Amino acid sequence: MAVPSLKMNDGREIPQIGLGLWLNNDDQACRDSVKWALEVGYRHFDSAQAYENEQFLGEAIKQSGIKREEVFITTKIRTSNMGLELTESFDESLKKLQMDYVDLLLLHFPVTVERRPAWYRMEEIFNAGKAETIGVSNYTVTHLEELLRESKIKPAVNQVELHVYLQQPELLEYCRKNNIVVEAYSPLAHGRRLEDPVLAKIAKKHGKSIAQIMIRWCIEAGTVPLPKSAHKERIKQNLEVLDFSLDKQDMSELTKLDEDFRTCWDPTHVT
Ligand code: A2P
Repeated sequence: MAVPSLKMNDGREIPQIGLGLWLNNDDQACRDSVKWALEVGYRHFDSAQAYENEQFLGEAIKQSGIKREEVFITTKIRTSNMGLELTESFDESLKKLQMDYVDLLLLHFPVTVERRPAWYRMEEIFNAGKAETIGVSNYTVTHLEELLRESKIKPAVNQVELHVYLQQPELLEYCRKNNIVVEAYSPLAHGRRLEDPVLAKIAKKHGKSIAQIMIRWCIEAGTVPLPKSAHKERIKQNLEVLDFSLDKQDMSELTKLDEDFRTCWDPTHVT
């Protein structure tokens, strides 16, 4: 089943499921993951300078023979590159990816002093055509308010940790109102909560796995889940979430699982 796309505020489209590549920085494992993902229909790959796998992703795409314009590639500027070196570091990323543009470039974290000047550099990269779309990651409503007030080019995407245990309804509502697509990283809560009885019951009802219910919840929430796996069978399974939907009863039970459970960076105290 073809993966649907969401429209972003710059008119471009983003495939609604991508393969997350965080913690997949072994050369062979990363290339294999990308290869298997392409075979089963993924066309969206989420990398970052900090993941240290841009080169493996680039090589896997090249080896697959797939046309550049048929894949959607994201990378992110790491925290330590958000100063004057931002543009140069991005050129380095393009070299590693063996590409002359990315589909989406994100600022990885709302670093206090650097994030504002960094966004102007992001706008320059966008204007130079080297990133088709620009956005941010780990931004809270407060960080987004500042950015929307001050930027010429509005961020099209905010990538945050999001899953049934960290539902962030206020952030989702703010992004919806301001036409910012939310991408969900760690949609499986990093694999740390895959035994919940409520999830197990809903999974049984739909003949799906708990992981598939968690990914489907992200889709029902209007976001773009980026599940990570380095296993062929799971990579396939994580895409098989388009042939069913969660009903009202499921959604209301899942809403109750929200407990602000973070597995990763907490940006809420970053001023
Ligand atoms: P692995 O890479 O060994 O398959 P998240 O995307 O939320 O960060 O979760 C990633 C974690 O969840 C990884 O440890 C990954 O392990 C595991 N994982 C990914 N897909 C599945 C799945 N379908 N079932 C069980 N665990 C999964």
